[in-house]
Amino acid sequence: MSTTEQPTGHAANADIIGRDEIDDIEAILSVSNVDVDEVEHIVKDNADAIFTWDYSLARPQLRKLYEKAKVGQWNGTTDLPWDTEVELDEVVTSDQAAFSAGLSPDHYAGTVVEKWGDKEWLEFGIDSRRWTLSQFLHGEQGALLCTAKITETVPWYDAKLYAATQVVDEARHVEVFARYLDEKMDGGFQVNAHLRMLLDDIIEDSRWDMTYLGMQVMVEGLALAAFGFMHQMTEEPLLKQLLRYVMSDEARHVAFGVLSLKEVYSEMTDRELMDRQEFAFEAAIRMRDRFLQQEVWEKQGVNPKDVVPLVLRDPTRDVFQQMLFSKIVPNCKKLGLLDRNESWLRRRFEEMNVIQFEDWEDTGSEYLKFELGADVA
Ligand SMILES: [Fe+2]
Ligand SMILES: [Fe+2]
Repeated sequence: MSTTEQPTGHAANADIIGRDEIDDIEAILSVSNVDVDEVEHIVKDNADAIFTWDYSLARPQLRKLYEKAKVGQWNGTTDLPWDTEVELDEVVTSDQAAFSAGLSPDHYAGTVVEKWGDKEWLEFGIDSRRWTLSQFLHGEQGALLCTAKITETVPWYDAKLYAATQVVDEARHVEVFARYLDEKMDGGFQVNAHLRMLLDDIIEDSRWDMTYLGMQVMVEGLALAAFGFMHQMTEEPLLKQLLRYVMSDEARHVAFGVLSLKEVYSEMTDRELMDRQEFAFEAAIRMRDRFLQQEVWEKQGVNPKDVVPLVLRDPTRDVFQQMLFSKIVPNCKKLGLLDRNESWLRRRFEEMNVIQFEDWEDTGSEYLKFELGADVA
């Protein structure tokens, strides 16, 4: 139910996301990782490193965030209970009982999945978790590279200080997700092609605010919602604590993006804002595409083309899918991205069924609720 008609000035869907219809399954599934043995992936970052000689305190909100970050550090090696025994079969079975793998089994009549018994659903559930945590891991590495880049490219002193703390945070996140996958899950999955394409686009863009928009607002906004969901859902104590610690950092990171871009975007022209709206839309679609987890279906011997159209219409899945945007939409609203240029991004979010979150709390101040020691539901 997409449209190729765009208000004046905006590019067509095909130019932004490579297809006209946002739900074009063939086009989505045609994007896949064809080199799963790749070890090194090189991307040009196209940016100037900027010194500033102005060391005055110009942005108190960012400085406050920097002070919070310095005392909010934790040690992935010593602060998490790595001696926890993780029995994957048991953990995934009990978590699935609470959430049925995010899918409604009776929704898949007429496909091979209809005949799946407990054993197949369990295998799918384990691989689904392995895949999800792997994409978190790869996204964390993207955040590590993006934040190192921001430290160089942002022209503001207060932001450079803060960004440097985020580099350490992201190193820690990469460390703990990689260790969890290796020690507790027998390894993970390669990067999903939709995610890699998004990370490449963010890194390649020469404009410093685009790194923030792509990473801090879109990727980390989605991560904060996804981590929160898994933190609430899982009964596995090590993973639960790991996610809680990561979330305490992640909420600051999203706040960093929102507070910085608010200042920049309020002064931009419609034309400049248009590019940012298109980029936010592209990022939203790439992230939605990746959550179809085509690699997990393939591993179970199921052709993704047979089930993905049903996944898109699965009511259980739909709730989860929408919830992923619960941080992104209010943050985009706060930045003025929803309604500039004839509400172009609002229309796109309506089409994606996620506009209902627009008045939820934005993350500019919400990060205080996620501090370690605070009670996150
Ligand atoms: Fe992170
Ligand atoms: Fe982060």
